[in-house]
Amino acid sequence: MTSLRLRLLLWVLLPMTLALALTARLSWSNARDVARLVQDRQLLASAQMMAGQVSWQDGQLTAQTPPAALEIFASPAQDRVYFQVRTAKGRLLAGWPGLTVPALPGGAAARYDDARFQGDAVRQVTLSRALYRNDQTTEVLISVAETRRAFDQLAASLWWPTLLHESALLILALALMLLGLTLELRPLLRLRAALRARDSSDLSPLRTVALQRELRPIVETLNQHAAQLTRQIELQKRFIADAAHQLRTPVALIATQLDYASRQPASAELQHTLEALGKGSRQLAQLIHQLLSLSQAEASRGGVRPTQAVDLVGLAREVVIELAALADARGIDLGYLPACTQAEVQAYPALVHALLFNLVDNAVRYTPRGGSVTVQVGVDEGRAWLQVDDTGPGIPAELRPHVFERFYRGNSADTTGTGLGLAIVRESARACGAEVTLDNRPDAAGLSARVRFSRADV
Ligand SMILES: Nc1ncnc2c1ncn2[C@@H]1O[C@H](COP(=O)(O)OP(=O)(O)O)[C@@H](O)[C@H]1O
Ligand SMILES: [Mg+2]
Repeated sequence: MTSLRLRLLLWVLLPMTLALALTARLSWSNARDVARLVQDRQLLASAQMMAGQVSWQDGQLTAQTPPAALEIFASPAQDRVYFQVRTAKGRLLAGWPGLTVPALPGGAAARYDDARFQGDAVRQVTLSRALYRNDQTTEVLISVAETRRAFDQLAASLWWPTLLHESALLILALALMLLGLTLELRPLLRLRAALRARDSSDLSPLRTVALQRELRPIVETLNQHAAQLTRQIELQKRFIADAAHQLRTPVALIATQLDYASRQPASAELQHTLEALGKGSRQLAQLIHQLLSLSQAEASRGGVRPTQAVDLVGLAREVVIELAALADARGIDLGYLPACTQAEVQAYPALVHALLFNLVDNAVRYTPRGGSVTVQVGVDEGRAWLQVDDTGPGIPAELRPHVFERFYRGNSADTTGTGLGLAIVRESARACGAEVTLDNRPDAAGLSARVRFSRADV
């Protein structure tokens, strides 16, 4: 069981239930003691009345049963009452002959017994009286027994209210505990919600102000851990950026050499090899370029707000021109559709360029021959936007969350990709305070990629 609330509740509930059981047991025996006292008093009073009615008459011992001696027991429980008056020697004077009368220990005024008679459990009191006549003492034993229904009822009626009170207290305590636990666990739940709502790459420290003293060290440790991770990630990113930077020169050198070599007379086989090498080196250069773009975008994120104005209209035209050759080679109609004449944002020019370039590059690469790609720029309610629409296959909804991941490639139609394009788009957008959405076009086939810049940047 892993619920903290449930476990804490159990730790309180268990001892409380035990305590309740114990006090219930104690109050039950208390209730029985009181009921016993009441029954014993009645039995004694009845036996004493009967004892008072034993006398000598005409030389004979006689015993009368006064009605009051039995009426004393009248109750709604309708208990049975048995009695017996007899001499110590065993002569029955009155009552039930079958009732067993126990011997009275010498000197005792009365004795009380729990016995059975005629199949019922009974409480029995026995007392003795000495009668004198002609210097002779005759001992008479008087015994009265009553079934235990009234006793049981009295004990129960004394016990129930206590039990009810205690149970009500337990339930109240439980409800208060639950309420308390819920309230006290709130900061923890808030922490969970805050963590859940976070972006997976967000490693900024969690706030500990609203937390209880016991929870703070945990969160502080988590924060330390996150700080270490951030340092580690920074180191790794710098390493990748440095490595890409270092690779750039030799790769450029190889490309130049290959270019030169392919212009020399050579056998068809060698030409073929040189072509393959040239393709490989261009892809390698592209990968290095993408890696550098990505690390540049990442490095800009969380830094100072960019203050450079970027002209989106000019940029859109520029990107369209840059990719015109590629579009042409692929039989794609690439165009810029003017939606407005002026759209400026405060951003990093290189990053906005990388962002738009990669979106248009994807649109051109994934749209089948004969399709079209349209770039639009506009301003809506003071927020500038960029939009790239294509007539390609679009991205299935289940792939959309993954396409922004690094090196994720959903479509093998284009073999030159690196899987870094949309990662660069996302990182650049973040660094420039923009949001990117990819939607399949509702009106036609194809993808519609939209970038909205925040209002402050307009
Ligand atoms: N315009 C588009 N139309 C269809 N699929 C796309 C489009 N843009 C991106 N994708 C999908 O998203 C994946 C990731 O894109 P990206 O990060 O640029 O990597 P790459 O283009 O190198 O494969 C692509 O492999 C492709 O499956
Ligand atoms: Mg791409």
